[in-house]
Amino acid sequence: MHQLYINTIGCQMNVYDSDQIERALTPSGYSRTDQLEDADLVIVNTCAIRSKAEQKAFSFVGRLAKLKRRNPDLLVGVGGCVAQQEGEKILARAPHVDLVFGPKAIPRLGRLVERVRLQGLRVVDTEDTDGFEELDLASGFRDDGQVARFVTIMQGCDNFCTYCVVPYVRGRETSRHPDRILEEIRMLVAGGVREVTLLGQNVNSYGLKEDLGSFAELLARVDRVEGLARIRFTTSHPKDLSDDLIDAFARVCKLCPHIHLPVQSGADRVLKRMNRQYTRADYLERIGRLRRARPDIAITSDFIVGFPGETEADFEQTLGLIEAVGFDGVFAFMYSDRSVAPAAQFKGKVEDALKKERLQRLLRHQEVFTLRASKGLIGSFQDVLVEGFSARPGLAGDHAGARQWSGRTPGNKIVNFDQDTDCAGSQNVHPGLLIGVRIEKAFTHSLWGRPVWVEEKPGGSKGDTCHAA
Ligand code: 5AD
Ligand code: SF4
Repeated sequence: MHQLYINTIGCQMNVYDSDQIERALTPSGYSRTDQLEDADLVIVNTCAIRSKAEQKAFSFVGRLAKLKRRNPDLLVGVGGCVAQQEGEKILARAPHVDLVFGPKAIPRLGRLVERVRLQGLRVVDTEDTDGFEELDLASGFRDDGQVARFVTIMQGCDNFCTYCVVPYVRGRETSRHPDRILEEIRMLVAGGVREVTLLGQNVNSYGLKEDLGSFAELLARVDRVEGLARIRFTTSHPKDLSDDLIDAFARVCKLCPHIHLPVQSGADRVLKRMNRQYTRADYLERIGRLRRARPDIAITSDFIVGFPGETEADFEQTLGLIEAVGFDGVFAFMYSDRSVAPAAQFKGKVEDALKKERLQRLLRHQEVFTLRASKGLIGSFQDVLVEGFSARPGLAGDHAGARQWSGRTPGNKIVNFDQDTDCAGSQNVHPGLLIGVRIEKAFTHSLWGRPVWVEEKPGGSKGDTCHAA
């Protein structure tokens, strides 16, 4: 057996791709290790979304030169979006790199690695092939005890937001055939997975180009997978959020009441320059519709601060939008120039210090709403899908230091509860179990509660029960 170490940088799409990399290399005798020193092959799965992520990738690749000097047989591969963007240039820049491959080359990875290993070649594969190339599912997936997994349903993006590198590195939007998606989900569920997050840059336009059925139709099919307890998806583009999909929150039993709906800015001027194709009013109207369809829906978003030309007044509009919506949580980023994206040429660049200041202000502004959303759950009963032990021991008063189980509510909030809690049946707690928890304490990034019931038969009735009327 050869040992494979993968360093995954970036988004959930890369987490999924890293699993696919592992799967693609299993038939060649590779198995994954989390010990860098043991590896025969190290792959860096890179992200190009902001310059920081790109620097992180190059800095890790740089560190591997020393490892390779110590072990000349070590193979080094660079995959992901930076690999796609830079191609051959990476070989010139880093003489210890053997292989550069884009996201679409993953199904060909077995052959590429063989060429490097057996023929001693340095190989680049950044071909942007048409269609969704499937990896053979026969190699299965490594059961690492994870009960919630990602499943890619589409690749690429056709939206061309002016700041974004994705359409250039991940290519045109391509949907995966629903039968293949269902096949993969069934395989995951058979291996103990109970929650899937369907991934795409813009899931709202799933299947439309290829006539594969709509995203709402796909959700209805996934909903019928026996043994699956929960469905999530990310990411949605506000401009394509159809009535059908909004209705799905009321109709699809296993669909969790959470939507990540990146707005990026609260100012129409900025949204226009970003080419987002919706206005502040459109966004607010969609939020209203979502809440009418599913009143308990948790809403999260992404923001970019310091986009070229963003004025103080624009930024205040963003703060105002945060108040108007009352998000459950947000991610915020300082605008970062990406040379292939049009905004890199825009005038009115905002100084770094001002971007930092706006980022801090935005996060401080949101904190109140994040805490408010968490506190609002105190006293409620939440279904929690146990994922594993919490990384940190208990924080709260008499529970301080206790080992805690950790899981998520349907609205995607982290809930911890003590391992040695005296609730009936909870001694048999294990990942994958749905537990009813009474929420008693709320912190900014987690909740704490007491288990009040434990699902009788995992994969049985509770997980399959419909919440919709
Ligand atoms: N600069 C800063 N943030 C960016 N994002 C995408 N491109 C950039 C960029 N050039 C953010 C957006 C997107 C999230 C995944 O990353 O907010 O929703
Ligand atoms: Fe990038 Fe916009 Fe596509 Fe999202 S929708 S991946 S931000 S181009």
